[in-house]
Amino acid sequence: MILVTGGAGYIGSQCALQLLANNYDVLVIDDLSTGHMEIISKIKEFGDVLFFNIKLSDKEAISKIFSEYNIDSVIHFAASSQVAESCINPKKYYVNNVFNSINLFNVMLSHNVNKLIFSSTAAIYGEPNYNPVDENHPKNPINPYGKSKLMIENILDDYDKAYNFKSVRLRYFNVAGADSDCRVGPWHEPETSLIPNILKSSFGSEKEFKIFGNDYPTKDGTCIRDYIDIEDLAQAHILALEYLLNGGGTNYFNLGTAQGELSP
Ligand SMILES: NC(=O)c1ccc[n+]([C@@H]2O[C@H](COP(=O)([O-])OP(=O)(O)OC[C@H]3O[C@@H](n4cnc5c(N)ncnc54)[C@H](O)[C@@H]3O)[C@@H](O)[C@H]2O)c1
Repeated sequence: MILVTGGAGYIGSQCALQLLANNYDVLVIDDLSTGHMEIISKIKEFGDVLFFNIKLSDKEAISKIFSEYNIDSVIHFAASSQVAESCINPKKYYVNNVFNSINLFNVMLSHNVNKLIFSSTAAIYGEPNYNPVDENHPKNPINPYGKSKLMIENILDDYDKAYNFKSVRLRYFNVAGADSDCRVGPWHEPETSLIPNILKSSFGSEKEFKIFGNDYPTKDGTCIRDYIDIEDLAQAHILALEYLLNGGGTNYFNLGTAQGELSP
């Protein structure tokens, strides 16, 4: 059985659907802080998913789940992930993303589960020194969100050396799109992602859309971002899971397209 933390959220729900499609047994833990019960109900239409409304900080409840179910590995999406909020309230990010992740890893260790897929981010690199940014690019995160994710990556290296704890860290660039069968999709309140906000300003109530930045070294001075489709991203998690289940060692990969704009 695969434990998915944050499976009621945008990326975790798409991944849960793909796990079911690949015949994995899935158990989701989510405190619904930014996720939605409606998403869990939708996933349940497509497979026998177990759901527990539990906070990652609740070590005892998580430990009970590991005692009761035969969990092979964990895909860990649950986190706070708004960059701007992380600058205003860094405490929330260091507690939820770092402290609560350590709680989860320690429970895993105490139940002899040593395989983890971790949602990391391109934000761990900070401002690019060169493009496209590869996995060896220096890591200088410029906000508490990126720093919290880099801290976890470093902890995972130490846990591997000391406890043989194997992880694949997937460093997402900008995740975009929704399930092509319209079962699940982005549902953030407030929505801070670029593409949903462009769509809102085109078709919804919010008529104004502001693009920040005008002095990047690009044709019009606005920045270039690298997007990855949500279904490709979820597929990468299945591949990473299979890699670990087949005995693969700790590893890390950027998940993007390395194409920020179309050729002129
Ligand atoms: N969306 C992106 O473009 C993007 C880019 C890079 C990395 N990421 C990372 O991917 C992961 C998923 O992102 P998302 O966009 O699906 O976010 P999301 O907010 O939609 O999903 C996160 C889920 O985790 C749950 N959660 C948060 N804290 C929890 C806690 N303490 N206990 C239990 N559940 C908790 C939330 O309720 C939510 O359902 C995050 O780790 C995020 O940092 C996302």
